[in-house]
This record gives sequence, C-alpha cells and structure tokens, in this order.
Amino acid sequence: MELLFRPRRLRRRDALRKMVRETFLRREDLIYPMFAVPGKGVLEEVGSMPGVCRFSPDLLAEEAKSVAGLGIPAVLLFGLPQKKDDTGSEAASPKGAVQQAVRRLKKEVPGLVVITDVCLCGYTSHGHCGVIERNEIDNDATLELLAQVALSHAEAGADIVAPSDMMDGRVAAIREALDERGFEMVPILSYAVKYASSFYGPFRDAAASAPQFGDRKSYQMDPANAREALREAMLDVEEGADILMVKPALPFLDILAQLRQEFNLPLAAYQVSGEYSMIKAAAQKGWLNEEAVMLESLISIKRAGADLILTYFAKEAAGLLA
Ligand code: PBG
Repeated sequence: MELLFRPRRLRRRDALRKMVRETFLRREDLIYPMFAVPGKGVLEEVGSMPGVCRFSPDLLAEEAKSVAGLGIPAVLLFGLPQKKDDTGSEAASPKGAVQQAVRRLKKEVPGLVVITDVCLCGYTSHGHCGVIERNEIDNDATLELLAQVALSHAEAGADIVAPSDMMDGRVAAIREALDERGFEMVPILSYAVKYASSFYGPFRDAAASAPQFGDRKSYQMDPANAREALREAMLDVEEGADILMVKPALPFLDILAQLRQEFNLPLAAYQVSGEYSMIKAAAQKGWLNEEAVMLESLISIKRAGADLILTYFAKEAAGLLA
C-alpha cells in the first residue's frame, strides 16, 4: 500500500523514539512541597497523601538533605502554627515553624533553593486566606499582613517567596515591602492563576486549612474562565512577579499553554494534592501503574509549557530520572 507518510517509521525502536522526542523531564524542573509544624522530633504522615509528612524544623532539615541528594533543586515550605487566630498572626512570627525551618535549611542544606508559601489560611481560625471584615475577605487589609509574612520569610533567609492567597495587588504590596527592607533581590513566584479547585482537598488535611465557613470562590478563580487567567497573569507581571504559576496543573493544561504563548517569564505549574492522591489511590488499588502515570502526567505538564513543576512526586520522579 502506498501511504503518503508513515509516522510509525520513527516509532519502531526505543533508540529512534528517543532521537525524535520533543520534551524532557529533568530533576532540575522539580520543586518539592513540604509541611513544617512547630516542635521538635515531630513527623506525622498526612492520611490522605500517602508518603507525604509534616515535619518539625529539625526533621524537616534532615528530610530536605535527602531531597537535595536526589538532585531536586528546590523545596516549597508550608507552615502550621501553634495556635490559630482571626488574623493568622503567627504567620509572620520569626519563631514560626516555617521561619525556623528556613533558617535551618539555609545552614544545613545551603545548596537547596528555599521557597516559602505566603498565605494566611493555615494560620487563621476561620481558614480563609485573608482577614474578615463584615463577613467578607477584606482585600486591602490582608495585603499588609501578607507583606509582613513575606518579609519574615525573607528575613529568615528564604530564597523566593510565593504568595498563594489570590488577593488583588499582593505582588505589588510584597515587592514594595521587600524592597524597602533591602530584599530587592528576593524573587516573587506568584500563584498568578490559581483556581478555586476541589483538587486541594487533601492539602487542606495536610495544612489543616479548610475554610470553616463558605468557600474560596470570592478570591480564587472560576475553573470556567480562561481569558481571566491572562488578565491575572498580566497584572502580576506588571506588579513585579518573577515567575508565574498555574494551579492546579493537569485540569488546566490549556491555561498553561496559553500563558506560555503570551508571557516570556519562567512558568511553573503546581500538580496539587488531589492530583497526587488520585494517582496514589488508584495505584494502591492496583488500577493504575503509579510510576508510568506519574511520569506521563509530569511530561504532559512540561509539554504544555511549564518550566518548573511543583509536585509531591518530586522524590519518586527524581529517583527514576537519576
Ligand atoms: C494556600 C494554598 C493551598 C494550596 C497551596 N497553597 C490551598 C488552598 O488554596 O486551599 C493547595 C496545594 C495542594 O492542593 O497541593 N492558599
């Protein structure tokens, strides 16, 4: 039979397939999210995220050494407080679990890039990402607090701060606060396009950060919107973001691809807790091949346009890529 072209010609052998491969996953692309809790000697597994643990700063530093040993260049730190209150005041405490963990990491694993998540939801008694005035999340009052949180992270030695709250104007507020205090060289990785996603469920377990009333739809984005994502990203670029992020990853690959077209900043994608737990759960049931599905999801996120991938699979993936 005479065919115009036979794409299978280049798929016949592994060596040939490798030669024409378009996208590569590298260990350098990965960022490993970690959870810091107050105390000493604390290690708790997160029930809904097999293999993911919460660590006190001392043990977190130990774990981070093995993360770095696998060739993963960076971690993203989330924190839990001793006590939650209305305004999430512990989020900016120099004695907080995140701030302590950052100081330890900078001392004990100096080559590792330390990124900190800047938000209030893990620290507020109501579980929202901002302060509440008259039953609403008060945008501008929250900005000041976020700036203080970011500053406390920079003072502890954070290499990059990553605001995930979705308040309007927070990149500008954080940039100004950092610059004023001599941290003009600390980059901002902005959760620029963060959807109000149900895939965050297991994370809220891990960070004990589920909203106690209502939901996050008045500040996180509607999953139905794509044009709005470009606007959100544009604003963050104008406000001084250094890296843009899309979150979650797999359900929003179209958004990632569009941002890749429109912006020339480095682009990150967050494969969130629910994306991780779905694969883990199906694999535990024997319904999916965990390794294969993990690698397929990660390469797809790269192919769509991500330079960097935040994933709870980072250690497993790095082990395979070594
Ligand atoms: C905090 C924050 C959340 C995640 C990252 N930062 C949760 C949320 O917005 O409810 C989710 C991460 C994940 O699901 O892995 N604002």
